[in-house]
Amino acid sequence: MDATITDLEAREILDSRGNPTVEVDCTLACGIMARAAVPSGASTGAREAVELRDGDAKRFGGKGVRKAVAHINDTIAPDLITIDAREQAAIDETLIAMDGTDNKAVLGANAMLGVSLAVARAAAMASDLPLYRYLGGPGATRLPVPHMNILNGGVHAHWQGADFQEFMIAPYGASSLREAVEWGAEVYHALLGLLEKKGLSVGIGDEGGFAPHVKSNEEPLELIVQAIARAGLRPGTDVGIAIDPASSEFFEDEGFYNLRTENRRLEAGEMVDYYERLVDAYPIALLEDGMAEEDWPGWKRLNHALGDTIELVGDDVFCTNPAIIAKGIEQDIANAVLIKLNQIGTLTETIAATRLATHHGWGAFVSHRSGETVDSFIADLTVALDTGHLKTGAPARGERVEKYNQLMRIEEALGTAARFAGKSAYVRPVRF
Ligand code: PGA
Ligand code: ZN
Repeated sequence: MDATITDLEAREILDSRGNPTVEVDCTLACGIMARAAVPSGASTGAREAVELRDGDAKRFGGKGVRKAVAHINDTIAPDLITIDAREQAAIDETLIAMDGTDNKAVLGANAMLGVSLAVARAAAMASDLPLYRYLGGPGATRLPVPHMNILNGGVHAHWQGADFQEFMIAPYGASSLREAVEWGAEVYHALLGLLEKKGLSVGIGDEGGFAPHVKSNEEPLELIVQAIARAGLRPGTDVGIAIDPASSEFFEDEGFYNLRTENRRLEAGEMVDYYERLVDAYPIALLEDGMAEEDWPGWKRLNHALGDTIELVGDDVFCTNPAIIAKGIEQDIANAVLIKLNQIGTLTETIAATRLATHHGWGAFVSHRSGETVDSFIADLTVALDTGHLKTGAPARGERVEKYNQLMRIEEALGTAARFAGKSAYVRPVRF
């Protein structure tokens, strides 16, 4: 099939928070048309690639993306037409050169990523391959452990609940992805019942998890352990817990971690002690962004205390940026990286960031953003890159479940070749 790009057309659509984002259609000479949409974060790292917003206060409070859309339609499209869509690396390199900045501030990372992903999906279709196989080859057969964010706090709950942003369940004891999704949904509903019984709020946050008004950051862990048991499963053995405090959001200039719900301000060392106690008391397999992005000494301390015991994932601190990840590996500050496509802005750089981590024995944990669309690209990407685990929100809300549903479709398509990562998902063995 002729995979020459003949047209790229972008538009402004809405994301799951009701904010504008970029959608791109890529058309090829053979007639194939593929579409991709760009997600958007709320608790963003300072060194993420630039998400270009119009800044016109009269539209969407300044969040319009008409400029990014125009960059695709008027600047990028004329340059990429006549290139073969299967030349992903060359296309991404062209985008990077056209932009010319380190942080993609000229074209906008949202414009660039929309193109990068639409091109990849079109190339897969032209190659007559499902996306996970096109990206990952015949060895892409391992399904990830889904990390489902069932209790939301922090900025995703508008600071009305826990300080910690994400409390996730990891059904790693299941025998298949499908069973893991089933268990996850059952625990989610068990938690709903538990919250109702306790008279706690059952309103939900940005990623679909409940956002109750808890009095501490430990209370959600207690609730989740109870919910797992209520669902007839064994905490730790069948279902583990992962947390993303997103601590940069409550780290203050004076160097304190401010836990508002608990009325406590902790120094880095005290914060590390706090996590050690939680890891002792609960079946926590993974801790993301335990320390703030600017607190590298704190990260080192955390890695020293817990890096041999659990997976310590860096999100805001690395921003999926190979240059920063390389520094983190050299300074031994964590043992895994979060992988978010729009933090870096092209598919090729995202693959490079993942490889850099895994080649050094680090884990790679693929992630959605709090502002999402129904685009399920990361489901295929996770299987293709064989990262063994991903997080993509609660087992509820269309933009979250579409990723889990796509993983179930992939597992079905792989048939007997499918394997479920289970407890081998992590860079440190599960303790239960
Ligand atoms: P964000 O949150 O998408 O709002 O950045 C996700 C995360 O911090 O992992
Ligand atoms: Zn995070």
